[in-house]
Parts: sequence; C-alpha cells; structure tokens
Amino acid sequence: MTNKSRNDTIDSILKEDRRFLPSSQFVENTSINNHNLKTLNQLANDDHELFWAKLAHNEIDWQTHFSKTLDDSKAPHYRWFDEGTLNVSVNCIDRHLIDHADKTAILFEGERGDTQTLTYRQLHSAVCRFANALKLHGVKLGDRVVLYMPMVPEAVIAMQACARIGAIHSVVFGGFSAEALKNRIEDAQAKAVITADGGYRGGKIIPLKAACDEALSQGCSSVQTVFVLNRTEENVTMVPGRDIYWHDAIQHISDDCPPQWVNSEHPLFLLYTSGSTGKPKGIQHSSAGYLLGTIVTMKWVFDAQASDVFWCTADVGWITGHSYVAYGPLALGMTILMYEGAPTVPDAGRFWKLCEDHKVTVFYTAPTAIRALMKAGDEFPNQYDLSSLRLLGTVGEPINPEAWMWYHRVIGKERCPIVDTWWQTETGAHVIAPIPGVVATKPGSCTLPLPGMDVAIVDESGKEIEEADKGGYLVIRKPWPSMLRTIWGDDKRYIETYWQRFNNKYYVAGDSARRDKDGYYWIMGRIDDVLNVSGHRLGTMEIESALVAHNLVTEAAVVGRPDEITGEAIFAYVVLKGQRPEGGIDNKLSVELQQWVTKQIGAIARPKEIRYADNLPKTRSGKIMRRLLRSIACGEEITQDTSTLENEAILEQLQGKQ
Ligand code: WT7
Repeated sequence: MTNKSRNDTIDSILKEDRRFLPSSQFVENTSINNHNLKTLNQLANDDHELFWAKLAHNEIDWQTHFSKTLDDSKAPHYRWFDEGTLNVSVNCIDRHLIDHADKTAILFEGERGDTQTLTYRQLHSAVCRFANALKLHGVKLGDRVVLYMPMVPEAVIAMQACARIGAIHSVVFGGFSAEALKNRIEDAQAKAVITADGGYRGGKIIPLKAACDEALSQGCSSVQTVFVLNRTEENVTMVPGRDIYWHDAIQHISDDCPPQWVNSEHPLFLLYTSGSTGKPKGIQHSSAGYLLGTIVTMKWVFDAQASDVFWCTADVGWITGHSYVAYGPLALGMTILMYEGAPTVPDAGRFWKLCEDHKVTVFYTAPTAIRALMKAGDEFPNQYDLSSLRLLGTVGEPINPEAWMWYHRVIGKERCPIVDTWWQTETGAHVIAPIPGVVATKPGSCTLPLPGMDVAIVDESGKEIEEADKGGYLVIRKPWPSMLRTIWGDDKRYIETYWQRFNNKYYVAGDSARRDKDGYYWIMGRIDDVLNVSGHRLGTMEIESALVAHNLVTEAAVVGRPDEITGEAIFAYVVLKGQRPEGGIDNKLSVELQQWVTKQIGAIARPKEIRYADNLPKTRSGKIMRRLLRSIACGEEITQDTSTLENEAILEQLQGKQ
C-alpha cells in the first residue's frame, strides 16, 4: 500500500469512527464473554465491596482470611482486606508447585542470543535461596531493598525474594544515572542494593556496578550490603565487607525459606515516578490489593490462558514490568518471556524473531516501540512467522491511528484484538481497557473502564461532564484494591497531588480525557507539568533543576514538543549566566548540557533541542508562560497574550529569529 492510500484509509477509519470487532476465532476460546462481563459490571455497580471481596476470596491464597473488605474511616487512606495475611511470592510461585512444578515460568533471552529457562520448581528454589541470603545479610521485614538490574531472570528472582521475606523492594530503572539512583536510595533509606556487574543493551555493556559505586560514594549511608550479579564478567571493584557476588551469597544456602506472612496492607514495593516538582515520588503499593489488581486484569484484559507465552516488553524498572512481568502472569502460573536487550539489535526484526522463536501468544508493548519498528519497514516483521500471536496490547501513551493500524495489519494480521490499556504507576493495574472478545475497539481509544473501576470525567467544579466529546479531568470516584497507599515519607504530598483538587473525594489522575458518544474514553494528555517521552513520565521541573545545577545556567524552562517516535520530545529554553550565544544557538554547549542532564537523571531526560535566551517569558506573578513556550517549540503561531512580557524582543529570541 502506498503512503497516500494508507493515509486515506486512516482518515476514513477516523471519519467513520470505525470499530474493530474481535475475530470469531478469538472469541471462541476466551474466558470472558458478553454475558460474564455484564454480570461482573452488574455486581460491581450493585455492591462495590462485595464485588471485590468475592474476587479477593477466589483469586488469592490466604494464610488468614480477611475480616473487613474496605476500611474507609481514614479516607483518602484506604485499607483493603484488613486482617488478612498472605505472602505474594507464595501466590506467584508455591501455589503452582502442586500441579505445574515443571511448567516453564520464565523463558529468557539475552541480547546476544543466550537463553535460559526456569520452571516453577526452579524459580521457587532460586527465590528461596536468594531470600535466605538476604536474611543472612540482615535484611528484615519492612526493610527497603533497591534493585538496579538488567532485564534478567535474577531481577524477578530478587523481587520475589524480597516479597518472600516481607522486605520492600524499590526497583530503579537501569537507564537512570548514579545521581538518580543515589536520590532514590536515600529517600527509601535502603538497607541493601542488588545490582549486576553490567547488562547488555544496544550492543553495549551498561556499567551498573560502576554507577552504583558512584551513587554510594556520595552518601547512601543506610546501605549495608551490595549484592552483585555476575552477568557480563566485566571487572568491577568490590568493596570488602559491603559487596558480595550473588553466586557467593547463595553458596551453601538452603532453598527452604518459609514465607513471611504479612498483612494485606504491608507495602510490597515502592516505585519512584516523576511528578510536577523536582523530586520523584516513591509510590507505595500494598500486598493483597495490588496482587488482586494484577490478577484480575491479567484475566480480563489479557485473557490469560494456561497455554500462553506472555511477553510484556517493559523493563522491571517501570510499573508495567512489575504488574505484567514480575507479578501478574506468575500469579496465574503462566509462561513469560523476558528479553534483556534493545528492540533493534541486531536489527529491527528482533522483537518479531523473538515472537517466532518463543511462540509468543500475547504481546504487550509501548506505542513508541511500535512507531519505531513501523518506521523500519514491513520487511522486518514479514520475515517471521507471527502466527502464534493471538492478542496484542499497548500502554504508556495514546497510540496514533497510523501506528494502531500497522500493529493490527502487519503484526496481528487483522486477526488479533488490540488492547489499549490506560493506567498509571499509581493505579497498580489497568483501569480503562477493552475486554478483548467483548468490547469493540477504536484506534486511539482505551475504550471503557474495567468492572469495579468508577471512572469519570469532571469539570473544574468537580461536576461530571455527561456531554460527549467535552474534555475534563479524569478521576476515579471509588477506591480500588490496587491503588497506591501513599507517597513514601511524604503523606502530605500524597493528599495534595491526588486528592485535594476535589476535596479528597476523587482520585485525580493528572490526565485530561473526553468520552465520545459511545462512552469510549480518549486520553488527551497530562494536565500538570509532566512530559511523556517514549511512554515514560518525566517532570519538567526535574529536568529544569538538573539544567540549573550546571554552573553556566541561571534559569531553564522545559516543555514537550510532539515527536514522531517518542510521542513527546524535550525542548529546553536556557538562560546563561554569561552572554547569550550568537543567534541563540551554541552546539558545543548544548552537547555539554545534554550530557549533563544524562548524568543527572539518565539518557531518557536528555533535551532534544536547547535554545538560549536573555530571559524567559513570565506572567506578572512570575510564572513561566509554558503554554507560550510550547507553542514556540511546536513552531505554532502565537495566540497568547504577550503584553505582560518584560521584554518583547525575547519572543524573537525564543523563536530563534534573532
Ligand atoms: C501516564 C502514566 C501505566 C504504565 C506506563 C506508564 C499515560 C498510560 C496510556 C494509554 C494514553 C496513557 C497517561 C498516564 N498513559 N497509558 N493507554 N493511553 N495515555 O506509567 O509512568 O505511571 O504514566 O501515562 O498520561 O497518566 P506511568
């Protein structure tokens, strides 16, 4: 198909508001049909608590059954399934040992093609052994453990081992810098760090241990032990008395580790995410409620089947890699695929080769990856047999119709439903997503809220917007089990960020959205100063603080500009201490500042473009006029009122005209 005719089709799809019904082949075998979904929604609407209580009763193996479904006496601090005790690792591993001990739990492939398989029995043994090693090194119930790992089975093993002993893990994405790692270790007051000598990504070795050493040399006094997985055989420095190799730590260690039973509300993990201030927030999740959220969404949205090979491409450093790699699919006894490397090594066919080689049935990835692979050309996927695929998913940002159609046509061969899943680090699990086989999909829409999720769109005053296609705040009106519990060490910020806007009555997601005439949700974007780059959240303030920390920079403003591949790209306006460079461009300095931000936060935060000005445009009250800067970054005509600008010439400078 030529580009022009393809665009015509996309236009007509949008114009006709075309819906995609699941193929009859898919519907035949799914676990949820129209009738079950109606029953689920009915029960959830009639009795929200009973609905969740029944699911919690059926889906979780309890040590002690819970006595109260929901305690809302301290709202917006909610407690779910109180007095129940459980262990999450028992729910993810031990319970499958009875009938499926020799089923494959993890299929792993490294970037260089090395593979490894772990059965549930082997996974159990590895988790118990490492859990005992953690205990031996003084890690106790409630202690925080930071993980800074490549995408290898040991990352999941370490997470599950923490869960087994009731330690709270906090995974820091391996792409974050030493500085970012240090901040997170210090905020969590971690007692131990689990890392690796390195990991393979993009044809290179990521020096994780070196970054870890740098972080620890700058503080992090809470850390007593650093466990180092030997992945790359690179030479690393080991600090005596503090650092121990993973293989040494588990030598002569028993693989019998009785689980630590914890209360439903015991924190399972913290995961740091960006917000609208410079400091990332440690999102705290619970044990039972979180686990339940991952289980039910695996069933409803991914139609989890025992025969599936489930591949979620997300790194364990993100919430997606928690809920749909390390916990949800294992809780259902599925086989998961883990891949260590980049999608383009050795070429843009790698993902599709992995799908063929491992007979992947359910594939879940981000629009940014889909767009990048689409751009590489159909010849890559066309070389491989993708007939094992039955269901496709996306997450992280709205997917543009062109990428959706390509995914549908070239990857799914018009046979696989696409589930576009809206959720957040804070929600723990999917919130708005289609039930494949029941809900017709529309390219670009995440469709309808899941059963038990009371989603609404409200106006400034908190009143529900009933009108079709009118945008407003996306809120969740009733608590749900997998919701965040607080922000670690900053409960005030928890209230301010998520609840205060509408008097603590609604959870405010931070996204704006609209609903079409069929009640389908369309996510329009963030309402706060948060960017979405390649499906990852980045606070503009965080990047601005990093820029200002450079000794040549006085002031900085960061905005997002639409980008073909990454969704949004980072555009920075910088005011220097010294003279503004000629024409507002200084390539050499820009490279230095880009490297600087990479060092401060990580490569994902590196500004794509930097423009220098004498001043930044501000309102009378001194607020940076971001909307104006955004228009300029996008090259749009300026419609905002600029009469308050102290220096009108600045406009020309910002536009790069002077
Ligand atoms: C933000 C959450 C949830 C895992 C990945 C990101 C955006 C997420 C979608 C979607 C449109 C989406 C929202 C949300 N987002 N999924 N299907 N359609 N937008 O997790 O870093 O917590 O970011 O990502 O803006 O608020 P996160």
